[in-house]
Amino acid sequence: MGDIDNHIHVYEKKKDIKNLKHERVERDSEIFKVRDEVFDQSTRLTLFKLMNNGYIESLNGEIATGKEANVFYGKNREGKEIAVKIYRIATSNFNKMYSYLVGDPRFYYTKKDKRSTVFAWAKREFKNLKTASEVIDVPKPIIVRNNVLIMEFLGKNMKSYPTLKDKKPKDPEKEFNLIIENINKLYKAGLIHADLSEYNILMGKKIYFIDFAQGTIKNNVMAQDFLKRDVENITRFYSNYIEVSDVNETLKGILNE
Ligand SMILES: Nc1ncnc2c1ncn2[C@@H]1O[C@H](COP(=O)(O)OP(=O)(O)OP(=O)(O)O)[C@@H](O)[C@H]1O
Ligand SMILES: [Mg+2]
Repeated sequence: MGDIDNHIHVYEKKKDIKNLKHERVERDSEIFKVRDEVFDQSTRLTLFKLMNNGYIESLNGEIATGKEANVFYGKNREGKEIAVKIYRIATSNFNKMYSYLVGDPRFYYTKKDKRSTVFAWAKREFKNLKTASEVIDVPKPIIVRNNVLIMEFLGKNMKSYPTLKDKKPKDPEKEFNLIIENINKLYKAGLIHADLSEYNILMGKKIYFIDFAQGTIKNNVMAQDFLKRDVENITRFYSNYIEVSDVNETLKGILNE
């Protein structure tokens, strides 16, 4: 522990040091200086371990800053592109997160403190991505450690695919049906996204659902409400382009199949 702290300390002062042994981490540490509230001491430690294990070779730039997390572009030791999602421990709205978490039977016993809540939040996204990846297109989850989640990067030339919000639908009818079919497949696998909208769908070669931290399982007491809200959001979005079926009809289709 102290040893690693020293390393990080040393890397921060790298300009004063001539012969650094761990060049790789030295290079990567550049990004540590970017934002202090994301890269607090414990997050640095987590990243440091992920680097030493080859899950991260380089972190090259920030893709997005969200309410609770920052997403970075990077590569692993094999040169594979990755997206690194870091949930902020300090600035997170942890009370709200906590109330969402404990409604999920899988996370009912989460301790009510900031760190436990944020770590559980990241873990839930990882678990959900795993389940989802078996039935629909999502970024493949690679590893989660504390508040850091690593997944497959979805994009081209270091740029993420556009969200549905930012891309005018080419074939709205087909897309709408596919998205509803995905909601259906997830539900059959026991999962509800619960934060689905045009902001959390990436339009690449395929249509990818992302941002699964709020995803929950069928026996959450709020499950049906979340499912309905997801369907409503998608229906609302596509009603700008096509004649869409009624939300309740779509829901019936999902629930009664
Ligand atoms: N696997 C990925 N590959 C490429 N880009 C990604 C990936 N995951 C996320 N992104 C980019 O980061 C943005 C934000 O991601 P995401 O929706 O998961 O987090 P968020 O909305 O910030 O989360 P929250 O609101 O819960 O804090 C996405 O719109 C997308 O541009
Ligand atoms: Mg999002």
